[in-house]
Amino acid sequence: MASILIVEDEAPFRERFVRTLQRNGHECRPCGDVATARLAVEEADYDVAFVDLRLPDGLGTELLERLGERAPQTAIIMMTAYAGLESAVESLRHGAVDYLEKPFSFEQALHRLDRVLEYQGVLADNQRLRRELRSAEPATDIIGTSDAMRSVQALIDRVAASPTTVLITGESGTGKELVARQIHHQSRHQKGRLVSVNCAAIPDQLLESELFGHEKGAFTGAEQVKRGLFELADKGTLFLDEIAEMETNLQAKLLRALESREIMRVGGTRPIPIDIRLLVATNRRLADLVATGDFREDLYYRVRVVEIALPPLRARAGDVAILARHFVQKFCRELKRASLGVSNAAMRYLVAYRWPGNVRELQNVIERAMILCSGDWIEPEDLPADLTGKAELGDEDLRAAVWAYEREHIRTVLDSVDNDRKRAAELLGIGVSSLYRKLQEPLPEAQREGPDPGLDA
Ligand SMILES: Nc1ncnc2c1ncn2[C@@H]1O[C@H](COP(=O)(O)OP(=O)(O)OP(=O)(O)O)[C@@H](O)[C@H]1O
Ligand SMILES: [Mg+2]
Repeated sequence: MASILIVEDEAPFRERFVRTLQRNGHECRPCGDVATARLAVEEADYDVAFVDLRLPDGLGTELLERLGERAPQTAIIMMTAYAGLESAVESLRHGAVDYLEKPFSFEQALHRLDRVLEYQGVLADNQRLRRELRSAEPATDIIGTSDAMRSVQALIDRVAASPTTVLITGESGTGKELVARQIHHQSRHQKGRLVSVNCAAIPDQLLESELFGHEKGAFTGAEQVKRGLFELADKGTLFLDEIAEMETNLQAKLLRALESREIMRVGGTRPIPIDIRLLVATNRRLADLVATGDFREDLYYRVRVVEIALPPLRARAGDVAILARHFVQKFCRELKRASLGVSNAAMRYLVAYRWPGNVRELQNVIERAMILCSGDWIEPEDLPADLTGKAELGDEDLRAAVWAYEREHIRTVLDSVDNDRKRAAELLGIGVSSLYRKLQEPLPEAQREGPDPGLDA
């Protein structure tokens, strides 16, 4: 059973196609235009996408690029009524694996689908290749001017150069992977690869041979020697994401590899020396898992030599405005649209929201808003209902939102004038004394948070 994205504007045809695929045991997500499909791509992963070339709000090839970036594992089959070699070649050039010329029969489509799924099976092993490609991307800047993010950046600067293992913790979407990338790019291992492994995404039995590789004949199906990710990351950085999901036997092997600086392929007898920088991340509390015996204590101490704890976004509300603006600019570039602003009313909701999905959620909210927004400003009605729904912001929330927004703004202005407070006050149209006061005003109660309970101190 495969999960399939269908992007086709002709509704009756789309529905029949979906029913046929469902009868064959596949899961389908139908979309009628580019905008809906873009959202669908953010929300789930697909094995295969059938994409119509001509859509009411754009060309299917735009989606090809998007899918290529966000979901390189999705195989794309173009559907085109404008036959001709030209559009087909064009879409293949944009990364489609196949195309169907309309009109086609559903048998034809199913046949192509089977072929693509089979091909994907063959390619599953090449996931690692894609991972390498991904790691070749330059690191994006870590945005944030809150005290918390400034100290995170300072810590990154301090640890990047040393070979120490770093444990990166934080709720989902707080930027753990981004930090890992940044460390890699600032480190002396930057010439090597950054190999990322999501321990939660790979079944236990496979993870061992993914990490350590295997010799020919090590187990049924091991027809070739396979180098593991440790070997691929040699002289570079190995990033083990969601390390808490690794089962304890494998944790023991990992520890052994780290201590001896060598690994053994599954079924092998020859130790292979490795020189890697290890970074690990988790959104769970490792200390608790150690207490319940689900995470090995010895490995815990080995990986938490240095810990970078990313605070949840709600604990650094002052970063929301600057992040929102950063994402607006980013999507303006990507969507090739003229610049756009966030209205004050909308910004107030953004700053006051609790962001359970952290920066990733903010990024998605901005992208969605930009697709929906028709004017020059993102307005509250462009935001999801759960942000604006509980509409009455409490007085406390509002004060906190204004506080955070103001402080962020003042800081930006101060930065722009090299901390010349007199000049900044002039630019802001306030007196120097009220500038001082505003900088010293404590965070209103509503937004103040203790250390996050989900993180190790
Ligand atoms: N400070 C930041 N500045 C700019 N972009 C950020 C920042 N923090 C996170 N992002 C962006 O938010 C998204 C989520 O970040 P990332 O994938 O690093 O989170 P994560 O902590 O690894 O989440 P998960 O636990 O779900 O894997 C990414 O697109 C990332 O680029
Ligand atoms: Mg992550």
